[in-house]
Amino acid sequence: MIYPIVVFGDPVLRKKASDIEKDSIDVKKLAEDMFETMEGANGIGLAAPQIGKPIRMFVVDGTGIEEEEMKDFRKVFINAEILDETGEEWKFEEGCLSIPGIREDVSRNENVTIKYFDEEWVAHQETFDGMRARIIQHEYDHIEGVLFTDYVVSPLKKRLLKSKLANVSKGKFKADYRTKLPTK
Ligand code: NI
Repeated sequence: MIYPIVVFGDPVLRKKASDIEKDSIDVKKLAEDMFETMEGANGIGLAAPQIGKPIRMFVVDGTGIEEEEMKDFRKVFINAEILDETGEEWKFEEGCLSIPGIREDVSRNENVTIKYFDEEWVAHQETFDGMRARIIQHEYDHIEGVLFTDYVVSPLKKRLLKSKLANVSKGKFKADYRTKLPTK
């Protein structure tokens, strides 16, 4: 099942998401739906708040990227907790399915150590680096109510961004996937 993707301005994107209690929901089915929704929108990551659910779950799939490190990077993260972020910060231009048409440079640490459960409720603790770390950091931000645009600090850029974001929340954007605008 493909969900519409919630866009900027919806309060669900600003909530700190709650842990999922084991067996309270069918996480396998939800993961399947999230992968399907993400693939339908050509995304490489999707967090539950982006389909209107304030719960700590996100999926990533970098297997479409022709890079050795992405070869088996298709994962489900449940109740994830970042334990450590290390290494140099590096900049990359990010985008987000909930903020169509906007891209900004974001600095993030090279490495992230994270613990989480997968869709079989198996516990993991792993360290990722580079682009894999970045995808995880971006999606993890979503379950903390943080968006990549929050990292823009220059006053001029912030001002420009504010009007662009206001347009997104009013539906003034192009996206080739189904979206859900904030309700007033
Ligand atoms: Ni995003």
